[in-house]
Amino acid sequence: MVKIAVLGYGTIGSGVAEVVEKNREVLTKKAGEEISIKYILDLRDFPGDPNEDKIVHDYEIIKNDSEVSIVVEAMGGVEPAFTFAKEALLAGKSFATSNKALIAKHGAELIALAEEKDLNCLFEASVGGGIPIIRPLNSCLTADVIEEISGILNGTTNYMMTEMSEMGSEFDDVLKDAQQKGYAEADPTADIEGYDACRKIAILTSLAAGKQVDFEDIYTEGITKITATDIKYAKALGRSIKLLGCSYKTGDSYCAMVAPYMLESSHPLYSVNGVFNAIFVKGNMLGDAMFYGSGAGKLPTASAVVADIVDIVRHKGKHITVQWSQEKLELADHKKLSNRYFVRATAEPADVEAAFGAVSYVTAEGVSGETAFVTEEMDEYAYEAAAEKLGGVLQRIRVR
Ligand code: HSE
Repeated sequence: MVKIAVLGYGTIGSGVAEVVEKNREVLTKKAGEEISIKYILDLRDFPGDPNEDKIVHDYEIIKNDSEVSIVVEAMGGVEPAFTFAKEALLAGKSFATSNKALIAKHGAELIALAEEKDLNCLFEASVGGGIPIIRPLNSCLTADVIEEISGILNGTTNYMMTEMSEMGSEFDDVLKDAQQKGYAEADPTADIEGYDACRKIAILTSLAAGKQVDFEDIYTEGITKITATDIKYAKALGRSIKLLGCSYKTGDSYCAMVAPYMLESSHPLYSVNGVFNAIFVKGNMLGDAMFYGSGAGKLPTASAVVADIVDIVRHKGKHITVQWSQEKLELADHKKLSNRYFVRATAEPADVEAAFGAVSYVTAEGVSGETAFVTEEMDEYAYEAAAEKLGGVLQRIRVR
């Protein structure tokens, strides 16, 4: 029997306990031995909960118990998760986590420590919730140079944009709804400002490059500036607005960014709605591949965490190689990327054309007193220069 400890009994931690309990028989078959939760670390008590007797408040108990061979972290945040992860590995215990903030910041270091100790540090659930994407990048796509990764990487914001577009819901109401459904982070600012998607594209780009991509280097915009008027224009254009995390191979490096995009209906991510995530990967040999599924929520995320536990049990005493060194990757300049832009401005069409050249104008029912248009393709430097010349820009959304 394999004894594990779960750190954090919130949405994901309680989901892990539920998956281990509900799928006990099948997990035993797949792992080759029974997986049993010995401890759950949380600051709170859970009177009446079926796992009440497993709750402990002191990590030392877990760290010092040689029966515990796997520590599963589902607390979120960088600290104390990082300290607990290091202590677990140093104490000879493998580590699995759903924590993207931890992995984006310290993934390379934890993987190196796990390798040194012939242990494992797995993090499938840190990107895309229940969607397999870390394992495919790390093992199935190793024959390829990854040329592009573009994904809807945050379930909360995709759910919000879908509800706002399809039901006409208000931003604050639909955010509350996403929180109640267990999609959002403890502080949902990370979702709506794009920080969560930023950490996820940093992890994916690190795996594609095999080097450390610092999330602080990634240009990030969230969805807080998207208005009901923008959604009306998107509908008039037959497009959907999605928050994307993107990464493109540029010479020896990658160029990565997070921002809302207006996608045309033929785009593979156009109709990914609700809490679903999808990640489009282009390999130089493979061509295009898409990974699609539930991107957030208790059981889908817990399913990916428990799959990591099974993998760790199957590889006892053997480190699973993860190509992600601690060497920093200098990202290429995102402003050199070319896009078309949807723009709303207070200017007259003659001034628009003087600044941007040829554009396509857009009208939306019930919107007046402004000029909306889509530019030709240009890089971000050219866009900024034209927008400054025009003045009075109310909105700018990149178009694909
Ligand atoms: N808050 C995250 C999301 C949870 O909405 O995608 C899954 O990482």
